[in-house]
Amino acid sequence: MTNSTYALESKDSSTYEEGYEIFLKRSNFRERILSKFEELSVDVRTKVPLKVFDVGCGNGEMTKKYLQLLKANPEHIGLWLTEPARTSLEFAVDNLRKEATVVYAEETFPSTQDFDLIIASYVFYHLTPDTLVNLSKQLKIHGSMAIMMGTSDNPFKTHPGLVSSANHGSTDKLQPILTILEQTSDFKISRHKVETLLDINGLKNDLGLTDEGKMLLGFSLNKNYSSLSEKALSAVDEIYAEAFEKNAGKVKSIHEIIWIQRLK
Ligand SMILES: C[S@@+](CC[C@H](N)C(=O)[O-])C[C@H]1O[C@@H](n2cnc3c(N)ncnc32)[C@H](O)[C@@H]1O
Repeated sequence: MTNSTYALESKDSSTYEEGYEIFLKRSNFRERILSKFEELSVDVRTKVPLKVFDVGCGNGEMTKKYLQLLKANPEHIGLWLTEPARTSLEFAVDNLRKEATVVYAEETFPSTQDFDLIIASYVFYHLTPDTLVNLSKQLKIHGSMAIMMGTSDNPFKTHPGLVSSANHGSTDKLQPILTILEQTSDFKISRHKVETLLDINGLKNDLGLTDEGKMLLGFSLNKNYSSLSEKALSAVDEIYAEAFEKNAGKVKSIHEIIWIQRLK
């Protein structure tokens, strides 16, 4: 495991890293999510000083980009970070020194604080939905929480031949808690979908998926690529065929930002 990658204990980290690197090079999900975040965070930008909490910050690469979009003087941003992968957390703290004052960097959640902004970027896969209730209580009145996550609209996870082997969640799992929060009328919730594109050109030849193609599939399913089943490998043929037929070798999937504002 290198410092620049995420540590996820549940899988073979080296193959996950490689798959993730391929995914980052071939997907536009970061730029799409960041541009939506910029639009949604207009109100947050009017607040100074800002108390920001990033849950599961990983190596801090995305945190850095979110913070830069707040366009605040780094001295005016107090930053709380949690990340169970210690090496990633240490890397994040170094990575973020120029962007904010890091007040808290631990493996566990801080005791209750009033935050202006809570960021949960691609982390709710690992958290139980009721964590959302606790986090929402840590918002200041008029504070906001941004939850970024993939939706169930992803062919690599929902194709009938892959669905049983995919073990990544989607925003669907949060819906019951979002309904409860809305019913309290203490929170305003809006959901913002963005379409992302993954370029799969060159990842398949006459012999089937290349190693790179398998690593990407392993990453998408949260599985070690060297143990992918024949069933999974052949299910991918249909996804590839459709992508080339309809979309010049690009696979579409929908990601989402759930924006929760505390009203009272
Ligand atoms: C896909 S990465 C996302 C990292 C970063 N937030 C981003 O957007 O790039 C998921 C992160 O969640 C972390 N994680 C796993 N379990 C967690 C937990 N119980 N609480 C907080 N973070 C957790 C992982 O270690 C990993 O760094």
